[in-house]
Amino acid sequence: MQWYTDNTFYDTLLIVGFLYALLIFVSSLFGTAAYGGRFGGGSRAKGIKLHSKTGWILMELPGLIVFPVVFFMGANSGETVPLFFLAIWMIHYSNRALITPLLMRVQPGASSTFSFNVVVAGWVTLLLHGYFNAEYIANIGTQYTSDWFSDPRFITGIIIYYIGFVLNIHSDTILRNLRSKTPDPSAPRYKIPFGGMFKWVSCPQYLGEILSFTGFAIMTWNLGAVFVLAITVGNLAPRALYTHKWFLKNFDDYPKERKALIPYVW
Ligand SMILES: NC(=O)c1ccc[n+]([C@@H]2O[C@H](COP(=O)([O-])OP(=O)(O)OC[C@H]3O[C@@H](n4cnc5c(N)ncnc54)[C@H](OP(=O)(O)O)[C@@H]3O)[C@@H](O)[C@H]2O)c1
Repeated sequence: MQWYTDNTFYDTLLIVGFLYALLIFVSSLFGTAAYGGRFGGGSRAKGIKLHSKTGWILMELPGLIVFPVVFFMGANSGETVPLFFLAIWMIHYSNRALITPLLMRVQPGASSTFSFNVVVAGWVTLLLHGYFNAEYIANIGTQYTSDWFSDPRFITGIIIYYIGFVLNIHSDTILRNLRSKTPDPSAPRYKIPFGGMFKWVSCPQYLGEILSFTGFAIMTWNLGAVFVLAITVGNLAPRALYTHKWFLKNFDDYPKERKALIPYVW
């Protein structure tokens, strides 16, 4: 991977980005992000709170804007390999910013728990993430000739990305189907999820997300993608552990062999 790009602004901002990722990880050890019914009401949930769907869409929208804007200013934006990465990006963030929130089934009468502070932290991440990756892929990177499609890094990365993306969507679908389209307000808000990778871990949706960004980092082979992988792991690994402990505490019959995030390991 290219550690120095001759673009001082880019290289300096990348260092700031990695320090920010470290801050997210350390902060996650003291409590997870304040959103959702289980964690949205904690001590971090001070200030403005939004409805889940609004919070998610607002937070993730820069993912659909920053990358294409920076991308089309790049000298290589008309080339095939960069355009392929643009397509992957837009599919990923259309799912994250629009499809997942719009399909989300909210418990009737649930109070708004999506902290605006989380939205702001998400904006910082997506501004950096979108800029780093679009600038590298469409402007700085020199490896993205059509030969890149047969490079082992591209092939390995796209396979890992695809497995992660499918796992993430499949697991999100299982969670969504735990509530009916018109949930009964008197029914329990949470149930134990079964099926797919829930057999082995409490948070396969997070494992899928981490695998997706691992695959993206390998297939693009650039530090901007490693930056977002670091943020994702720093954020989701501790949240998986909080979620796992929450299940164990709240369901006596929770499958004891299930791990938090990595089957058989953790
Ligand atoms: N890249 C990143 O850094 C990052 C960060 C965060 C999330 N994500 C991704 O965004 C997606 C959503 O994440 P999330 O943290 O909101 O996931 P989540 O905690 O799994 O919640 C998703 C939805 O499912 C509901 N739900 C969760 N567990 C349930 C259960 N046991 N019974 C019934 N309903 C349940 C939630 O309801 P409530 O709202 O009522 O709790 C919410 O509507 C995931 O795919 C995740 O990987 C990515």
